[in-house]
Amino acid sequence: MTPSNPTFPSVLLTASGSYLPQKIVTNDDLTKTLDTSDEWIRQRTGIAQRHIAAEDELTSDMAVAAAKQALNMAGLGADALDGIIVATTTPDDTFPSTASVVQRKLAATGFAFDVQAVCAGFIYGLDVGDAMIKAGKARKILVIGAETFSRILDWQDRSTAVLFGDGAGAVVLEASDGGENSAENWGILSSVIFTDGRFRDILYVDGGVARGQVGKVKMVGPDVFKHAVEKLANGLDQAMTQSGLGAEDIDWLVPHQANDRIIKTLQKKLKLPDERVIRTIARHANTSAASIPLAFDEAMRGKQIKAGDVVAFEAIGGGLAWGAAIVRVGRP
Ligand SMILES: CC(C)(COP(=O)(O)OP(=O)(O)OC[C@H]1O[C@@H](n2cnc3c(N)ncnc32)[C@H](O)[C@@H]1OP(=O)(O)O)[C@@H](O)C(=O)NCCC(=O)NCCS
Repeated sequence: MTPSNPTFPSVLLTASGSYLPQKIVTNDDLTKTLDTSDEWIRQRTGIAQRHIAAEDELTSDMAVAAAKQALNMAGLGADALDGIIVATTTPDDTFPSTASVVQRKLAATGFAFDVQAVCAGFIYGLDVGDAMIKAGKARKILVIGAETFSRILDWQDRSTAVLFGDGAGAVVLEASDGGENSAENWGILSSVIFTDGRFRDILYVDGGVARGQVGKVKMVGPDVFKHAVEKLANGLDQAMTQSGLGAEDIDWLVPHQANDRIIKTLQKKLKLPDERVIRTIARHANTSAASIPLAFDEAMRGKQIKAGDVVAFEAIGGGLAWGAAIVRVGRP
């Protein structure tokens, strides 16, 4: 919700970090084992390559690498954090939460928990972190999206294997409620999250505790595509209405990087030129909960997005779960 009530602190998004595994797998590499082509993948999705985690690389390892960069940009030690939220659908183990493992590896204290909303996980993490800070339960929270999706892909299924990659991104949320650091209309101006479990069967993993095996991604791509276009547009509309801003106030769209054709549809709706849309899909593919913070961090470090810019985030994933957020980034 909007921070228009002055009793709630503004929640600033002050820093970001990211991590990509070293190994790159190109579309041409995939043609060696799959009946597919570079041309098909580029045309239908915009993807040219993806990063894949090393065998001994865990979701928590990538999350920690992204977290360290974000803390460094924020000028904070891990001991300054009140809590860590990790958005992931590929945890190291069933339990404890990957956030607990990240907390231990960072030698941080406070609370730590995972949120599981698949590709929408980062927006869910942002929404929960924002609410906790506004409720006075924390002042500094690290929100991380981290995934090793390569471990839940059926590498023989060309309709899903070509779409995903691994990686992690992180942001620091900080309360700003007075003094020099006070801010009006800065930070998270709005965030909305939605779930519609009726569409569970169009995107899911056929494994888990009940089945005694990890399982692989199953997807009815064209159905997900149709829902994505409609639901992301609605989510963005609602987030903009709650923020009190219109499409003309958005400096940057940082969309979930699932399919460039979905991104183009939303871009058209907001009437944003290519120069105002952050695209990493060609190089990163779909890294699920990591995709937005990864793209955002690249644009922050590349000095495209600057403090004071208004950024729109949106994502949808299995559940179906989706959401959007409008943020004036950086410190005032
Ligand atoms: C997956 C997706 C790229 C498929 O594109 P599409 O244009 O909808 O293609 P379809 O699934 O209708 O398949 C069209 C044809 O391409 C084929 N095909 C599918 N994957 C292929 C691949 N990697 N290489 C070559 N051909 C492929 C299909 O078998 C089908 O062949 P047919 O016509 O002979 O049956 C697209 O539906 C999509 O991006 N959906 C949304 C996915 C998404 O965002 N998921 C994550 C949400 S977080």
